[in-house]
Amino acid sequence: MKTMTCIEDLRQTYHRKVPRAFVDYCESGSYAEQTLRANRADLERIALRQRILHDVSKRSTQTKILGEPASLPLALAPVGLTGMQHGDGEILACRAAQAAGIPYTLSTMSICSIEDVAAAVDKPFWFQLYVMKDRGYVRSLIERAAAAKCSALVLTVDLQVIGQRHRDIKNGMSVPPEIRINNLIDMATKPAWTMGVLRGKRKTFGNIAGHYPGMHNVTVLSKWIAEQFDPTLSWKDVEWIKSLWPGKLILKGILDVEDARIAAKTGAAALVVSNHGGRQLDGAPSSISVLPPIADALGSSLEILFDGGIRSGQDLFRALALGAHACLSGRAYIYGLGAGGQAGVARAIEIIRNELDTTMALTGVNGVSQIDRQVIAG
Ligand SMILES: Cc1cc2nc3c(=O)[nH]c(=O)nc-3n(C[C@H](O)[C@H](O)[C@H](O)COP(=O)(O)O)c2cc1C
Repeated sequence: MKTMTCIEDLRQTYHRKVPRAFVDYCESGSYAEQTLRANRADLERIALRQRILHDVSKRSTQTKILGEPASLPLALAPVGLTGMQHGDGEILACRAAQAAGIPYTLSTMSICSIEDVAAAVDKPFWFQLYVMKDRGYVRSLIERAAAAKCSALVLTVDLQVIGQRHRDIKNGMSVPPEIRINNLIDMATKPAWTMGVLRGKRKTFGNIAGHYPGMHNVTVLSKWIAEQFDPTLSWKDVEWIKSLWPGKLILKGILDVEDARIAAKTGAAALVVSNHGGRQLDGAPSSISVLPPIADALGSSLEILFDGGIRSGQDLFRALALGAHACLSGRAYIYGLGAGGQAGVARAIEIIRNELDTTMALTGVNGVSQIDRQVIAG
């Protein structure tokens, strides 16, 4: 892993080791992928201010996220089907995050269930909730997350309908993979991936299987999921969820100042400025371009988390400079997972940490709380 010196190295290895349908599922954005590209392009455009001859010998990336100590201002984002990128992927990613001292978020659409992950790790993790039409099921998920002692509930609010990702349709993406001749050939050339997934605890959506009769049947399950995303979802449901969830609530998927203002009044502990990694509204602005006005509008009324396009410690630094308290990483750690399992996720976190630390040194900063707009050039 030491020869993997940047996230791009992990990405290239990930592309070699994981079957095409899952790589495409991860890399895709919706429709023409304009927002996906904007997330990266707008981050890269932000130039940093080089400062010299400051004593930066006492640097630390330590911080707090939602009041809990974190070794760097980063959390792992919820990523559906993580257990199809690598067998037991959710457990491995959670272990890597916890060993590195940062939070891990388990997706509703995970392969390992809440209980699988809780039994395999020794610290609390965050659980991400999609609100389905079946509110009884939503309530049971919240109860399961509370019983598993999840330390925060991340409510995703930008997926009332699913953004179309062309490649998933073309690949016939399903879980487990459809038995198509090209899928079989692809898997045959990725034996380590195949063995890992075969040995993994589950081969379908762990949080949903078993909820309804017939849910072990993948076709029934996929149909149920597709019908369950709820276009009626509104701020009233946020109130309802808040009344059920005893712990900290995070609203994920806010991209507009007006929405951010409403979110701040819900009693949520944090929001995530996010466009779902460019996978939902194509044509929406990049996450980084809307961060400063949202940060200005909210001040310190709640914690502002950020995601979309983070591929390095410099990107993390840019987002902190523009008002994020901490960032979530999606694809960057999935590249690590596919490239090297738990060690690969650990390496992805380490790369981002080292880059952040060096960037702090070269911009004359000793602590993450000092990273503000002053560190941006121009
Ligand atoms: C393959 C994939 C699956 C995702 N699944 C979920 C999910 O189940 N729930 C959710 O809230 N966000 C999901 N997201 C969005 C991420 O949580 C996060 O917002 C996004 O990946 C951040 O952008 P980045 O990948 O550029 O870091 C997913 C993203 C990807 C790439």
